Amino acid sequence: MSQHGSDIKPGEPQPRRWKRLAIILAVAITVIGLGLGLGLGIGLKSGDDDDGDDDDNNNNDSGTPGGGTNRTTKWAPQVGASWQIILRYPMELSDSSELTPDVDVYDLDLYDNPTATFSTLQKKGKRVICYFSAGSYEDYRPDSGDFPEEDLGKELDGWPGERWLNTSSPKIRDIMAKRIALANQKGCDAIDPDNVDGFQNDNGLDLTAEDSTSFVKFLSAEAAKYKLAVGLKNAGDIIPSVLPDVDFSVNEQCAQYNECDTFAAFVDDAKPVFQIEYPKGTPDKLAKSDAEKSCDGTGAGRFSTVLKKMELDGWVQYCDGKSYETAVDEEKGH
Ligand SMILES: *[C@@H]1O[C@H](CO)[C@@H](O)[C@H](O)[C@H]1NC(C)=O
Ligand SMILES: *[C@@H]1O[C@H](CO)[C@@H](O)[C@H](O)[C@H]1NC(C)=O
Ligand SMILES: *[C@@H]1O[C@H](CO)[C@@H](O)[C@H](O)[C@H]1NC(C)=O
Repeated sequence: MSQHGSDIKPGEPQPRRWKRLAIILAVAITVIGLGLGLGLGIGLKSGDDDDGDDDDNNNNDSGTPGGGTNRTTKWAPQVGASWQIILRYPMELSDSSELTPDVDVYDLDLYDNPTATFSTLQKKGKRVICYFSAGSYEDYRPDSGDFPEEDLGKELDGWPGERWLNTSSPKIRDIMAKRIALANQKGCDAIDPDNVDGFQNDNGLDLTAEDSTSFVKFLSAEAAKYKLAVGLKNAGDIIPSVLPDVDFSVNEQCAQYNECDTFAAFVDDAKPVFQIEYPKGTPDKLAKSDAEKSCDGTGAGRFSTVLKKMELDGWVQYCDGKSYETAVDEEKGH
């Protein structure tokens, strides 16, 4: 998690960093996954062109799942929507699976999950937010080879191999435009572009808040081409500059760091805050008092709060104390 990177002492576990397990394996899997994903995407796309009726898209404001077709309206996520986020592994799901937990919104990795997962969720009436890193280079993504060395800054604190990006560079913006086009093609309802807060970290590229504002506006304009909704990940300092350009917040640890006030600007503007807390001891040794503290920020009752492990696997707990384990494919992911 980048925002508080400099607050975290070396050796402490760090959030959102599920990725170091088996990079070589992950590279191999993503290469295979890309092949399958592209094949599937092309297959579905030509299927749609041939026959617009053979899919089961009956909620016409989310776009036709999987086809990169024309959404008639952008999804407007609601304050208080329930959600689950899983980034470490692909979600495991079939048409007949019961959803565990059965929530309104799923935030899943754009690359690691097949189009079929997104469309199955949508058939069940759910919304899909697709996660990718917009402001950092990861060495195992299918397009990692497209990033010019000159646009790479320092490594993210504690995460060798992942580096801040010059988000003003036209080459970087081209890559991110392609990732957004992929999100459209895979039928996502929204994107969750991570690491847009390099200016709050030691990035090696002299990134400023103005750079970040400009980049978020760029991502938002690209997403608007496809009527994809857009989240602002963390980046509390630029909320006033970009609030009209984004549809929701994805926030890490505002309760832990006493900054939920900052993010309340979203709910005041009728946009949800999807809040993640990483209380210690999850899942087995999570103290009731720590769980309550996570749920007791300024946003209490208005934010969509999940308690997660830092690795963002299938486990989740909500503020009513109920916890769930979503099925994931532990053979894949990173
Ligand atoms: C989409 O849904 C709206 C409201 O439910 C309906 O009025 C409209 O005709 C639908 N459009 C299409 C293309 O099905
Ligand atoms: C989507 O819109 C484009 C441009 O308006 C059009 O050419 C294309 O046929 C549409 N696709 C579908 C599936 O309706
Ligand atoms: C980032 O890219 C912009 C646009 O190409 C360029 O003007 C700027 O010098 C770059 N910054 C660094 C630190 O290389």
